[in-house]
Amino acid sequence: MRALHDCFFNKPDFCDTELMVDVSITYMTIMIVIIFTNVGNFVLKNSTNSRIWSTFDHPTDTLAPSQNLSVNGSLRSGLYSFGILGNGNLTLLWNDTIVYYHSGFKSSANVSLTAPRLSISPIGLISINDVGRTGSIEIIFSSDYAEAGDILRFLRLDNDGNLRIYSSERGSRTKNVRWSAVSDQCKVFGYCGDNGICSYNGTSPVCGCASKNFELMRGIVEKGVKGK
Ligand SMILES: *[C@@H]1O[C@H](CO)[C@@H](O)[C@H](O)[C@H]1NC(C)=O
Ligand SMILES: *[C@@H]1O[C@H](CO)[C@@H](O)[C@H](O)[C@H]1NC(C)=O
Ligand SMILES: *[C@@H]1O[C@H](CO)[C@@H](O)[C@H](O)[C@H]1NC(C)=O
Ligand SMILES: *[C@@H]1O[C@H](CO)[C@@H](O)[C@H](O)[C@H]1NC(C)=O
Ligand SMILES: *[C@@H]1O[C@H](CO)[C@@H](O)[C@H](O)[C@H]1NC(C)=O
Ligand SMILES: *[C@@H]1O[C@H](CO)[C@@H](O)[C@H](O)[C@H]1NC(C)=O
Repeated sequence: MRALHDCFFNKPDFCDTELMVDVSITYMTIMIVIIFTNVGNFVLKNSTNSRIWSTFDHPTDTLAPSQNLSVNGSLRSGLYSFGILGNGNLTLLWNDTIVYYHSGFKSSANVSLTAPRLSISPIGLISINDVGRTGSIEIIFSSDYAEAGDILRFLRLDNDGNLRIYSSERGSRTKNVRWSAVSDQCKVFGYCGDNGICSYNGTSPVCGCASKNFELMRGIVEKGVKGK
């Protein structure tokens, strides 16, 4: 996802570039076109211009505008994952088993879904689309929803287990949190690892140890404590 990151934060000029690479494989030569699209997609095409692979078909931890997350897909970061259920409910899981965030599908419309797809719009709206259904069901708005400017907004499952909407002004190299799924970071399962104790130092969540016989391993993000 380096390409996506560069496209968003470092090299906006790079995003519309097409690179052509000839790759020789023993008995044949295929031409592969690598495209960084202006929405940060990374596409591999073969010599007949067929799409072989694209980052948008394989989201990892980030969902960018024009990408869809279906029930069979998930965003992943370490042991954490985020997904959408067949009924439109959203879940955050630890190690694919423990649910620590569950958002019911809220809609005044009495709808049942068949194959829901989640996406984030360029103006900061997370919505669900369904096959055979016209119009989308709006579920989450970023705090800077529809604010003007050349702003890139995306949804990311961070390695601290929280799911956030970020905004970044194109070329600014900075990003701001505009929504987060779990408002109390200490409620993210496993955030401080086994035997870790989560608390706040006023502004930030901090992990501590249950006893003086333990020490923090690798800091807050890597998690966990070990015996001395
Ligand atoms: C999800 O996977 C199942 C089983 O592989 C498949 O039957 C179904 O069509 C897939 N759904 C979508 C939306 O891709
Ligand atoms: C995650 O789940 C797998 C399979 O259920 C299990 O073998 C593994 O120990 C779990 N990982 C942790 C860190 O508990
Ligand atoms: C979906 O969310 C609603 C509201 O939180 C909850 O009542 C329901 O049990 C959930 N359904 C599933 C299948 O998780
Ligand atoms: C939603 O639809 C179901 C089945 O069509 C119906 O039984 C239920 O009463 C409806 N609920 C509301 C709140 O309209
Ligand atoms: C995402 O889903 C929408 C409809 O919900 C569809 O129009 C669009 O083509 C899909 N995008 C991708 C990249 O599959
Ligand atoms: C709280 O912890 C954060 C992250 O470790 C640190 O940047 C900040 O300075 C700390 N604040 C106080 C008041 O100690």
